[in-house]
Amino acid sequence: MWNQILLDAVEIEGPAPDAEPERQYYFMKKCREWMREESERQGRSLTYLTETLGCQMNAKDSEKMTAILEYIGYVPGGLHEKKDGKSIDADFVLYNTCTVRENANQKIYGHLGFLKNQKEKHPGMKIALCGCMMQEEDEVLKVKKSYPFVDIVFGTFNIYKLAELLYEQIRTEKRVIDVWEKPDAIVEELPGKRQYSFKAGVNIMYGCNNFCSYCIVPYVRGRERSRQPEDILEEIRGLVADGVTEVMLLGQNVNSYNGGIDFPSLLRKVDAVDGLKRIRFMTSHPKDLSDKLIEAMADCGKVCDHLHLPLQSGSSSILKKMNRHYDKESYLALVDRIRKRLPGIALTTDIIVGFPGETEADFEDTLDVVRRVGYDSAYTFIYSKRTGTPAAMFPDQVPEPVVKERFDRLLAEVHEQAETIFDGRVGGVFEALIEEANDHDPSMVSARLSNNAIVHIKGDKELVGKYRKVRLLESKGFYYIGEMSDFA
Ligand code: 5AD
Ligand code: SF4
Repeated sequence: MWNQILLDAVEIEGPAPDAEPERQYYFMKKCREWMREESERQGRSLTYLTETLGCQMNAKDSEKMTAILEYIGYVPGGLHEKKDGKSIDADFVLYNTCTVRENANQKIYGHLGFLKNQKEKHPGMKIALCGCMMQEEDEVLKVKKSYPFVDIVFGTFNIYKLAELLYEQIRTEKRVIDVWEKPDAIVEELPGKRQYSFKAGVNIMYGCNNFCSYCIVPYVRGRERSRQPEDILEEIRGLVADGVTEVMLLGQNVNSYNGGIDFPSLLRKVDAVDGLKRIRFMTSHPKDLSDKLIEAMADCGKVCDHLHLPLQSGSSSILKKMNRHYDKESYLALVDRIRKRLPGIALTTDIIVGFPGETEADFEDTLDVVRRVGYDSAYTFIYSKRTGTPAAMFPDQVPEPVVKERFDRLLAEVHEQAETIFDGRVGGVFEALIEEANDHDPSMVSARLSNNAIVHIKGDKELVGKYRKVRLLESKGFYYIGEMSDFA
């Protein structure tokens, strides 16, 4: 299922090695020995539960941490959803946090209140917090002071050390807090447990150098670091050998990838990997999306018909204040160039409403771009003031009722445009990758088109992971009902 580490062969009698990843294998085995004794003592397997908030980066980090927990011997479980509410009795609970918007932080504190109560009923529970929110000093102080039942706290740069931190906590029976200001090395050889057998995310770079004025990511994920192309390709070849046919190349701004070669060149190399069928990537910053990339996308048959191109705002003056380095006209011109060379490509976006100083005219510009581009979907966000970012100090924060009203208008516009686009494809035949059995109807499966749209078709779960031609019968606004097609 993942890169196998032969823990049995790891020597744990002496001191821990200094070199990574050997040091982590040592601690994984140490924890596993503890786990063996503990499971014997309790006469059962110990369970883990992970909760992941935020973006694809966090999801990928959680896959790596889940694999470490399973190597140690934890089994998934410990969540019970009953009619009268949910309860948790997992032996290890891991929250991978997000801090991109304020409400994500509030959500975590809400969860922690609930977990405190659960831990009182299940005193052996270990609680760990990691991720972007833990890179903020004030939040760590708050956890230290007000949440003493949290056992382990770490950030975004040392997730690969989970076993070492856990072992330290087991050994000392004290709280372990280890948050780094900066990354050290990129430690890649650790395993990752994939959610799907047929598709996987692959980090190509970490961090962000853009400092959009509203965004906290550069402060909590550090400066850009690109992986070497050979390491990326080796990982992808390994995934393909393991049954993966679709990869998502991940980075905060993949267009500024620089691993000795640029992103278009990397894309061409990934496209040449035998056995791979689909390539996606995320996220593209419009300022760095070059014609060279558009050409590479056009040439590479495996690159999907989908591009996520965050707009953030349609107003040139707001974009300037956001430090985005493009304006309304250049964004629209870029979309034109993309559409000309890649007809049929689906565009999706991120939009923030209520950035400081946003006037009705600025907001109208955003609506105008939404109308002119026609997105398949848009993630729409209400501006959230993040302490430490330049925009938090900007004057003219927009009053809440105004923001809410604009937000609703934006959603309505996005839905209207998406509906037209979705309707336009009905009757067409597309290749679909069947991803999962339908939760509600076992006679149906859900599949994803190259353009990222979801289609529900009749079929059983044996089809999961396979590609089929599908005719789109009906649009439901943001997904389709279809049927397998023998005609294409
Ligand atoms: N407020 C609202 N939305 C934000 N995003 C990033 N920072 C903020 C913020 N302070 C949004 C952007 C980004 C997405 C991942 O989150 O739209 O593209
Ligand atoms: Fe944040 Fe801008 Fe970097 Fe995206 S490109 S992570 S919005 S700073």
